[in-house]
Parts: sequence; structure tokens; C-alpha cells
Amino acid sequence: DRRTEAIGHVYRGTFVHSTPHTALQVLEDALVGVDTGGKIAFIGKGQELNKLSQTFGFCPSEVTQLTQDEFFMPGMVDTHIHAPQYSYAGTALDMPLLQWLDTYTFPVEARFKDLEFAKSVYTQIVKRTLRNGTTTACYFATIHTDASLVLGQIANELGQRALVGKVCMDRNKSVKHYKETTQESQEETDRFIAELLNKKYPLVKPVVTPRFALSCTEALLEQLGAIAKNNNLHIQSHISENTEEVKLVKELFPESESYTDVYHKCNLLTNKTVMAHGCYLSDEELDLFRETGAALSHCPNSNTSLCSGTLNVRNVLKHKVKLGLGTDVAGGYSASMLDAVRRAQDVSKFLTIQDPGHDTLTFEEVFRLATLGGSQALSLDTQTGNFEVGKDFDALRVNVAAADGPIDLTQKVEPKILLEKFLNLGDDRNIVEVFVAGRKVVPFTE
Ligand code: GUN
Ligand code: ZN
Repeated sequence: DRRTEAIGHVYRGTFVHSTPHTALQVLEDALVGVDTGGKIAFIGKGQELNKLSQTFGFCPSEVTQLTQDEFFMPGMVDTHIHAPQYSYAGTALDMPLLQWLDTYTFPVEARFKDLEFAKSVYTQIVKRTLRNGTTTACYFATIHTDASLVLGQIANELGQRALVGKVCMDRNKSVKHYKETTQESQEETDRFIAELLNKKYPLVKPVVTPRFALSCTEALLEQLGAIAKNNNLHIQSHISENTEEVKLVKELFPESESYTDVYHKCNLLTNKTVMAHGCYLSDEELDLFRETGAALSHCPNSNTSLCSGTLNVRNVLKHKVKLGLGTDVAGGYSASMLDAVRRAQDVSKFLTIQDPGHDTLTFEEVFRLATLGGSQALSLDTQTGNFEVGKDFDALRVNVAAADGPIDLTQKVEPKILLEKFLNLGDDRNIVEVFVAGRKVVPFTE
């Protein structure tokens, strides 16, 4: 008997996903078995139904069968999102990054000292992202430890896989009440990590979160690097988003060779690090990312909305730097990863308009960035990102015919076309079910 755990559920139909070798693999009439622990127990072919049911001990009549217009794809991974900023998403995009932070972001984030307000906004953003197919999110919260713990609790309750960061900042010249002392920041980070780990949420982990070099003293950056190292934790921050920011970092850290070197000196570049943006990184800096295993999060909506820059994804991929997509709510105004997919294609096409020699990203490549690429960027690719035996079943059941298409209902449409249509034209109405670690988390059960 090869069974280790009882089969929880079996799904039959079209599955699309990425592998390390192919941006898009289509499995037609596949059978995917999920065990009661939410892990993929087997992947087989439809015609092997009887054999597999005997081997794995499930009843063929209980298999969930997808329709012709449906497919499963891996849940999407948002590698960079600010949960508190959802409260003003869709507004306040009329100035560049540093003024935007001072004018809108810091005053709003300061309000998250209020746990009731935090709970309300955090419930909204976790629901909104789950409904839109984000099964894994890497969140910035605010400097407030208890409110950040509330975000972890909500992600756990609603069933989203999440990295949650209590934001650290011991420098803020504009909004003076929205910062910590160096010691507070370090002690509260320790408390946040201890209390979050103590909850033993199966899918929610802490991530060490220096806001960015301009918000942190070197002493704080060093301490946070040490905390991450001692506890083997994830790290997230921002890098090289905007030219004014890059210039000020050079002035503030004259000893460092580059922006990347500021973080590297403080042990903040590891294979569990994800840095947002990176629009202005040099080839040498990208090499340092590859050597340390640190990843980038490409946030195209934010980069355009704040007029920050245009990341050359093709160049990042050439340097073999791990890369995922992020919404960067609320520098990016959309919380949907489908928007990030479309914006990433737009930015890539814009680079081709500027330079016809530029090799435009294909939709399959962008699909990979939104799924497997994101899981690799967060070093969670042993758990999620595609359909592989042993990984958790994090999946979207997509129906392209829902909400009136667009689809030709008179004939069978190729799965690749279904995926392309969904990525370019679909929305949450086409995401009929969302699974995280085998649990159906959308539609919500209330
Ligand atoms: N750099 C430092 N903080 C932030 C933030 O909240 N959003 C963005 N887009 N960039 C940042
Ligand atoms: Zn950000």
C-alpha cells in the first residue's frame, strides 16, 4: 500500500502551469489527487482513473470534473503589497515617490495604531486579494506590532498563505510621529516574530521588513540583518525605485559602493530576500542579487502610477535573478495580480516601442512570473507555485465562460487560448473557486 495519507479530493480536467523548464505546460484531462493535508498526492491521466483510484483509495464517482470552459491554474503570488495602503488605493497618485510617502502614505499608516481600523482594512485587503486569485501574499503592514499581528491572524483565518512584515523605520523627517527609535524597532521586531511564530499558523510567516534605506539608520539595518540571520527568516524591502531616492541613498551612505551594497553590507541580501522595484540597478548590482540568491519584485502598476521608472525584466532574467510580480498596493492602485500581469506586458511592450531590438515578454513568461516565479522569489517554491507532487494544492478554478465570456461557446477552445483570454480579459467573476493548501477559501464561507 503506497498510501501515506487518505485522499481528500480528486480533480479531473485541464491544468495549466509553469515548470522551471517551460513557461506554459498544459495537462489535458489530468487527474490531480489532493491528500487530507492539502498536498498534491498524485498527478495522472484521466484514462488512468481506475488504476489510480485503486492505488490511492478513492471512489471514482466522487471525482470533481471540470467543464470544457474551465481549467485549473496555480494560485498567484503577490510578492509585494502594502496592506494598510489599501485604505487609499485608487487615489493620491499625483506626485513622485518621496513626496507621496510624506503626503499620503505616512499619515495614513500612522492611523493603524488603532486596532479596529487595522482589522477593518486588513479584512478587506485579504478578501479582495483572495477573491482575485492571490493565494500567497508578501505583505508590508505598518510599524505597529499589534496591528501587524492582526494582519497575520486575518490571513490565517481566511486561509491565505502570507508573509507578514512589521515595518521598521527609525528615520522620518516629515511625519515625526510615524517612526520608532532604533531600539524600539529592534525590540518590537523581536516581539512581532516571537508572537507570530507562537500562534503556529500553518501558512503565515513573519518577514523582517526594513522599509527602505532612507527610512533606516545603518545601525537598524545591521540589527535587522542579524535578526533575520539568527532566526533564518525572510527579508523584504524596497530598492532603486526612483531616481531621487537613488541619489539620496548615495548621499546618505557614502561608504557604500551602490544601493545594493548598502543592504549587502548589513546581511540583508539572502536567498530569502525579496526587494521591490530595482528599476535603476546596474548590471553589477544584478550580479550581486544573483550571487546572494536575493530576488526582485516587479511592480509595474506602481512604477507607472508614481512615474518611478520601467524595469527591464528581460535584463533581470538574463542575469538569472529570481523575479516575481507585485501589486505594490497602493503605489499600484490595483490589488489584483491580473492587473500586474497586464501591466508587466505593457511595460515590456513599451520598452520594445522605445527599442525595437528589445525582446518583448510573452504572456506565458508573464504567467510564470505571476505563479512559479513569485514562489521562487519568496523561496516558497517547495510549497507552492505550480502543480507538482508533494507541493500544496494552491489553485484557481477558472471558468472563461462565466460572466458571459468572452468565449466561443460553439466549439472547444484550446487551453492555451483560454489562459490567454483569462489573463488579458478575465476578472474575479471567472475565478469560480480558490484553493490554498487544499482548502477551498473562495467562495467565502460565512
Ligand atoms: N519606498 C519606501 N516605502 C515605500 C512604499 O510604501 N511604497 C513604495 N512604492 N515605495 C516605498
Ligand atoms: Zn512597496
